[in-house]
Amino acid sequence: MERLTKAAALVLALLMAAFLAYIFAGSTPPGVKRPKLSLAATAGNAKVKFASYKDCRKCHPQIYKEWERSWHRMAWTDPWVQLSWGCYRDQECRACHLPRPLMEDGKKPRLVARSEDEDKESGINCLTCHYSPQGILAPRGLTVNMQDGCYPIYYEDIATDAQCWECHPNQYDDWRLSSFFKEGKGCKACHMDEVERPIVPDGPVRKTRVHFWKGAHTYTFIKTGYDFSVELGDDGVKVRVANTKSGHLFPAERHNRALWVEVTFYDEKGKQAGEMAKWIIREGSNQPRNMKLMEIKPDSAVERVFPYPTASGSVKVMLKFDYFYSNEDQYTRVLEDPPPYRFSGKKPAGKKE
Ligand code: HEC
Ligand code: HEC
Ligand code: HEC
Ligand code: HEC
Ligand code: HEC
Repeated sequence: MERLTKAAALVLALLMAAFLAYIFAGSTPPGVKRPKLSLAATAGNAKVKFASYKDCRKCHPQIYKEWERSWHRMAWTDPWVQLSWGCYRDQECRACHLPRPLMEDGKKPRLVARSEDEDKESGINCLTCHYSPQGILAPRGLTVNMQDGCYPIYYEDIATDAQCWECHPNQYDDWRLSSFFKEGKGCKACHMDEVERPIVPDGPVRKTRVHFWKGAHTYTFIKTGYDFSVELGDDGVKVRVANTKSGHLFPAERHNRALWVEVTFYDEKGKQAGEMAKWIIREGSNQPRNMKLMEIKPDSAVERVFPYPTASGSVKVMLKFDYFYSNEDQYTRVLEDPPPYRFSGKKPAGKKE
């Protein structure tokens, strides 16, 4: 018995090692051809010595302010992350939640954990995405007088969405199967709003992007991700949730989110008819038993019909979204709460004509 447990532990350790090797190997996202960093634009200028993300604030105050409020900045201080990392080897978690600059070696992006002593309040910071020993990695390669600036060099992974793949491989892979990929609408198009403004206080107006990555922590943004409809059919109330507007699975995250529908019928006197029905579309995967992973795939929908318990009355339908961290730790946001729908002259379930 003990030997069996040891064998299982060994297999698990090997699987874990393979997984980590995959994560930390600095591989390439599907569909991306990774050219070498172009140094042409900055030949001889590679004397960028940025010790800290704080150095960027002076010249890019607006972007800095946006990033400060973002969940990338909070990726390590986030109370939910702090609560959950204790039960793992923190090294693993820090590679994404408290990383060293991805391109620190100037060759290939890699996820390497930084120590908790180094700017832990900044989680994923400017250097994580923009630093390389050759120069600041940039989406365009602007040609203003860089002697006073930061010697940016064009870097394809920043210009495209390839950089997001390093830490978000799930969403990236799912997005590649969605219609948004075919339309050329990527992560940034939905998650970093486009604005026209100067990048530096007295600089020229440019088309640029807000450094706040709206996601599941932003209620109004979740609501842009799906279509919800309720239809009073002959046999029952048809509830439908369609994932036509988010670029990946809905919910996008695979562990800590749950999605469900509550349906309650009332008779004509307003008294509840039957039990409230709870349709779990996606359950928090932390739940050990009865695990259901049923995120809605891009460009598809789920629907269910709830039979009428009475011939006439009303029905209340709600769509709810949980941040599900453990059985004790979960909080709910109501996404849809339309007024009750009235119905009459229906055929109640189980009753003969
Ligand atoms: C491959 C990169 C990666 C690694 C490694 C990683 N995470 Fe994450 N984590 C993410 C991303 C990306 C998110 C954002 C949600 C999503 O897409 O999954 C996230 C979200 C979370 C959240 C939810 C935060 C919130 O506010 O809802 C928690 C908690 C968390 N991670 C804990 C951990 C712990 C603990 C570990 C170590 C065992 C870990 N993570 C390792 C990338 C990673
Ligand atoms: C001394 C001022 C200064 C500092 C400090 C500075 N920058 Fe810049 N940065 C500039 C100027 C000037 C531009 C060009 C703006 C323009 O042309 O509109 C620029 C442009 C950029 C660009 C866009 C270039 C492109 O081609 O798309 C990026 C990215 C960038 N900076 C990142 C950073 C980061 C990250 C830091 C901190 C490590 C930083 N900068 C620190 C002055 C500075
Ligand atoms: C067409 C718009 C669209 C595109 C394209 C898109 N997303 Fe999203 N994304 C959303 C919406 C809406 C949500 C909020 C609903 C949800 O959480 O599923 C979201 C949620 C997320 C979340 C938050 C998950 C959580 O629960 O914390 C992450 C991370 C994310 N997207 C990453 C990406 C990445 C990476 C890409 C590119 C590969 C991408 N998204 C492409 C619309 C989009
Ligand atoms: C999670 C990665 C990430 C982090 C963290 C990040 N950036 Fe960026 N940054 C990007 C991406 C991606 C773009 C390209 C946007 C685009 O395509 O217009 C960008 C663009 C820029 C630009 C050029 C604006 C433009 O549109 O030409 C500047 C300047 C910049 N970032 C500065 C910063 C500063 C300063 C910080 C820290 C306060 C920071 N970034 C943090 C990913 C990041
Ligand atoms: C170094 C790893 C890393 C990179 C690179 C990265 N992310 Fe993230 N991202 C994370 C982690 C970790 C979180 C979870 C933070 C938390 O909730 O505490 C996250 C959270 C998010 C969220 C969720 C915000 C919310 O409200 O829950 C979105 C959206 C997102 N990232 C989009 C992007 C996009 C788009 C890119 C590419 C431009 C990108 N990320 C690049 C690690 C990364």
